Amino acid sequence: MNKEIKIFENTDELSEYLGIFWKEKIDRLEENKYYSIALSGGKTPIKIFDYLSENFRDKIKWNKIKFFWGDERCVSPTDPESNFKLAKDHLFDQIDVNTTNIFRIRGELDPGNEAKEYSKILEINLPLKNGYPKFDFILLGLGEDGHTASIFPNQIELFNSTNYCEVAEHPVTGQKRITITGNIINNAETVMIAAVGENKADKVFEILNNKESANLYPANLVNPKSGNLFWLLDKGSAKNIIVE
Ligand code: 6PG
Repeated sequence: MNKEIKIFENTDELSEYLGIFWKEKIDRLEENKYYSIALSGGKTPIKIFDYLSENFRDKIKWNKIKFFWGDERCVSPTDPESNFKLAKDHLFDQIDVNTTNIFRIRGELDPGNEAKEYSKILEINLPLKNGYPKFDFILLGLGEDGHTASIFPNQIELFNSTNYCEVAEHPVTGQKRITITGNIINNAETVMIAAVGENKADKVFEILNNKESANLYPANLVNPKSGNLFWLLDKGSAKNIIVE
């Protein structure tokens, strides 16, 4: 596994890097091939998606991408909490994307059943590698508690589930979520963890410096077996690791 740490001035610079990365990967695709991307939710992707909509609308062949999610809140697709709605409002509605290539997690349905159904969607639409569906690219975030996707520290065992997807529960709100698990995350060709803001600096420091405390954090378990891991940081989240 190859790990790279990139520190950007701000989220726009981070988004520019991501846009160029996706463009270069997609421009190299063979005629009838697609690039599979699992999106994350939360607030960070809003600025990323807005930047990409503004600056890469005509630079990326968006119809060569199959969009999935790493996690979804168990709410309707029109709920402000929905990760699908977030991507639709800030990206899909602004670009030329084929809706048949958007595979949302149906948060409005029974969580247990949808976790099973989405696992089937992954199996049908992605190649298998090491016995698990393989994403070309997974975008993750980092929670202030060290969670990633919707695997929280108090349910860290979900990361090692042999199921492709699990039902999780937000430790504070009790909100049910559906999340991909570590065997999917660590099977991907490329994983990028986008963590910006000073509020992430402590966890970034603990994880990137292999501190004992990091063993409690699901994000610390992200290590693609034969893929590439990128930590995309800004000056705020990197403030404890920047060597002046
Ligand atoms: C979600 C995410 C989650 C998110 C982190 C960071 O559905 O909330 O997928 O893992 O990436 O909580 O969220 P922020 O970008 O809002 O800090």
